[in-house]
Amino acid sequence: MDARQMKIKAAEAALAHIEDGMRLGIGTGSTAEEFVRLLAEKVADGLQVQGVPTSERTARLCLELGVPLKSLDELPELDLTIDGADEVDGELRLIKGGGGALLREKIVAAASSRMIVIADESKVVEMLGAFALPIEVNSFGLVATRIAIEKLAGRLGLTGDIQLRKSGEDSFTTDGGHHILDASFGRIPDAEALAIQLNSIPGVVEHGLFINLASFAIIAGETGARTLKAQ
Ligand code: A5P
Repeated sequence: MDARQMKIKAAEAALAHIEDGMRLGIGTGSTAEEFVRLLAEKVADGLQVQGVPTSERTARLCLELGVPLKSLDELPELDLTIDGADEVDGELRLIKGGGGALLREKIVAAASSRMIVIADESKVVEMLGAFALPIEVNSFGLVATRIAIEKLAGRLGLTGDIQLRKSGEDSFTTDGGHHILDASFGRIPDAEALAIQLNSIPGVVEHGLFINLASFAIIAGETGARTLKAQ
């Protein structure tokens, strides 16, 4: 099974949790896009759902494939969000934001009664941090914010490069008009402490640590899909 087939397997398994009439948060990234494609087939067959997309990119795909969309203001309470992840640990803590949509992804997940993560085995880790942590920051005071993040990381014993994400020659800009700093800490032994303290830096809009948001994860591997629950 190649990587794409595994993503499709995870997305198929998530589809089994979708019921008629659901208000759905719809994630961003290549795995979430496989879910959108499968969901669109069900919608064409008569399934009634209303989706809230977590990015402009996902919104475009949903519109193209005929998945009905609402804004989060129109549907502020959601039944279920399906989304991918860059890393998942055994406690269902996640790193997200590789696709740059972490702010809307977190707002949508927090507005949902449940969140199911869909991923392939390569995303499952013992400890978060090998994937660079995306931190969405306001463009005003970017250098001061970066210094504050470096100091905070130092206090927590974290080291590693913090790079401004680029898109070609320019700084990458999120759907919310912010920038992203990717922090390559390597290991994040205390994700809870880092999450709380990052949110105390004024220039940090949001970070890609998703803690206590995922209900369970569907992990696809060579032999099929398994459910990962918090230990
Ligand atoms: C988007 O901002 C991310 O949080 C994605 O959910 C994450 O990067 C997973 O993407 P893939 O499914 O493409 O690996």
